[in-house]
Amino acid sequence: MNPSSYVIETENLWRVYPLRHGGEGVAALRGISWKVKPGLFIALRGRSGSGKTTLLNCLASLDRPTSGTVSVLGKNLLSMTDEELTCWRRENLGLVFQSFGLLPTLSAYENVELILRLRGEAAATRHQRTLECLELVGMSRWRHHRPYELSGGQQQRVAVARAGEPSLSHPGRRTHRRTGQSQRAGTSGAFPPPGRGGQPHPAHGLP
Ligand SMILES: Nc1ncnc2c1ncn2[C@@H]1O[C@H](COP(=O)(O)OP(=O)(O)OP(=O)(O)O)[C@@H](O)[C@H]1O
Ligand SMILES: [Mg+2]
Repeated sequence: MNPSSYVIETENLWRVYPLRHGGEGVAALRGISWKVKPGLFIALRGRSGSGKTTLLNCLASLDRPTSGTVSVLGKNLLSMTDEELTCWRRENLGLVFQSFGLLPTLSAYENVELILRLRGEAAATRHQRTLECLELVGMSRWRHHRPYELSGGQQQRVAVARAGEPSLSHPGRRTHRRTGQSQRAGTSGAFPPPGRGGQPHPAHGLP
């Protein structure tokens, strides 16, 4: 496979958090080399503190690794400015945060619609896509509720609807959704096997 057709490529990725009082720091990622083909559903599995969030933050360009390379959708994230990364995330990534990250003063509908507003979509398109995404996660009925009026699972579903736009309502728009190709995660052999050094590892690669 042509290397540029991987959706994610990391090479010897390290993230060492410096300690405030000096010392060696916490090596949350220790040399992750990983290639991911398009069209996979992947779960990262690992004990608490093993580095899952750290890895996802580096892949989402929310954090910069200490060393190594990260390429996502063919873009070398480390060569981009913060402003370029902000635009790139807005157009290409959907994120569901561990703590949901919904805006508390906005309704479920407004939380999803905000992303489309930031992308400059027209009002009618925003309305239609927001309703579609909320419908897909079974949250239409609760669309006027604010996050504090929703259960944890319902908040998570709103976060999924927000992260999934535009690919939930327009599945063909993202490159890696077009191929439908399946592959067991980690079959490239580049990712550390389960248990090695307590690093996070992909649990499933679903078609
Ligand atoms: N900002 C930070 N400064 C210092 N150390 C950090 C920081 N963020 C995370 N760590 C440390 O890095 C390691 C990996 O943390 P990370 O949050 O990536 O783990 P995780 O696998 O997502 O855990 P969990 O399953 O509990 O969410 C942990 O030892 C954590 O204490
Ligand atoms: Mg985490």
